Amino acid sequence: MKQWVTLMDGIDGFHIQEVPEPVDLKEDEVLVRINAVAVNHRDVKIINGDFKGRYAAPASPMVPTSDASGTIVKVGGPVSATKWQEGDRVLGLVRPTHLTGPTRSEHHALGLGFPQSGVLVEYRVFSASGLVQIPHKLSFEEAATLPIAATTAWMALNWNRPIDKPVRGPQTTVLLQGTGGVTIHALQQATAFGLTTIVTSSSDEKLLKAQELGATYTVNYKKIPDWADEVLKLTQGKGADIIVETGGPETMPQSVRAVAEGGIISAVGVLTGMTEDKPQPAVGLSLINRNAALKGINIGPRDRVEEMMRLYEQKEIHPIIDRVFGFDEARDAITYVKEGSHFGKVVIRVNED
Ligand SMILES: NC(=O)c1ccc[n+]([C@@H]2O[C@H](COP(=O)([O-])OP(=O)(O)OC[C@H]3O[C@@H](n4cnc5c(N)ncnc54)[C@H](OP(=O)(O)O)[C@@H]3O)[C@@H](O)[C@H]2O)c1
Repeated sequence: MKQWVTLMDGIDGFHIQEVPEPVDLKEDEVLVRINAVAVNHRDVKIINGDFKGRYAAPASPMVPTSDASGTIVKVGGPVSATKWQEGDRVLGLVRPTHLTGPTRSEHHALGLGFPQSGVLVEYRVFSASGLVQIPHKLSFEEAATLPIAATTAWMALNWNRPIDKPVRGPQTTVLLQGTGGVTIHALQQATAFGLTTIVTSSSDEKLLKAQELGATYTVNYKKIPDWADEVLKLTQGKGADIIVETGGPETMPQSVRAVAEGGIISAVGVLTGMTEDKPQPAVGLSLINRNAALKGINIGPRDRVEEMMRLYEQKEIHPIIDRVFGFDEARDAITYVKEGSHFGKVVIRVNED
């Protein structure tokens, strides 16, 4: 079978290789024929060498990417041990041991795509507890976009809500930054809850697409660099109750200005650089003045993934896929996401259904 590998040292070193299909399974493991893999911003950074110096590079070529969907083709033990059978349609959890509660270092240590081997491969062994059933109405491509981007969006909107009591209603305003994978999932979820949404983007064309998906307001952050003022204007001075902060150091100071009193900034991304490299002392005092919360989001556990998937099923949400690349085109898919012209998710088709 074929798999893509990287030494985390640049796109030129990202290559395809032939390896034997896995044969031996433990009782609690299953073999999955991978149908689709979704690309995340993190994969782009890993493959392009942006993690160099920050994390140890793998000693030997590693399979990158974390989000996959596929079909179970073999089970290691009886159904009582695995809870799965051949033919089940499943998606893989990025951190197979993260079943509930906050993300801890032991969950990270077993993360697929880094530091553990990832999913850009034709067949892969998964632990039975690291899989979730795909809702009937979702295609493999759509399902592959859920584990990181949709779960992160879900946690950014709902981290402080008990399961099954998610945030609802137009009185809640959510600010969503950019139009990448996390943001567009968050827009679809927030729209399904009937929340008021404000989406920012560098592109008017993408903002039009966001409106078609239900965005209440849109702001071009290139044309309006002081977009926090615009958010305050749109909310009659109140600000956004929840901010899905994907930008990081360059956007955080404005997010702090744009958050409502008592609101929440869900710190998700570092699209404008690693936050630790650019300390922002002003953020602390402004947060105090606004009595707002800053919460780091770190994907989410299995029980919250299942909770989120119920919403996708009930409301028939279909994740937005900008483009699907073939397995042999994985390098183009990574470059495409790096260039940032996508809207929503980019997917690689591994095996046909
Ligand atoms: N904490 C977590 O658990 C977690 C999970 C997933 C992702 N992340 C992080 O979240 C971020 C987004 O991930 P993603 O997968 O959604 O990325 P993505 O799909 O690659 O999204 C990139 C988009 O971000 C927008 N963007 C870039 N600079 C921006 C800025 N200054 N202000 C506002 N928007 C900006 C651009 O949208 P426009 O073209 O519309 O301007 C760009 O197309 C990344 O930093 C990623 O590493 C964190």
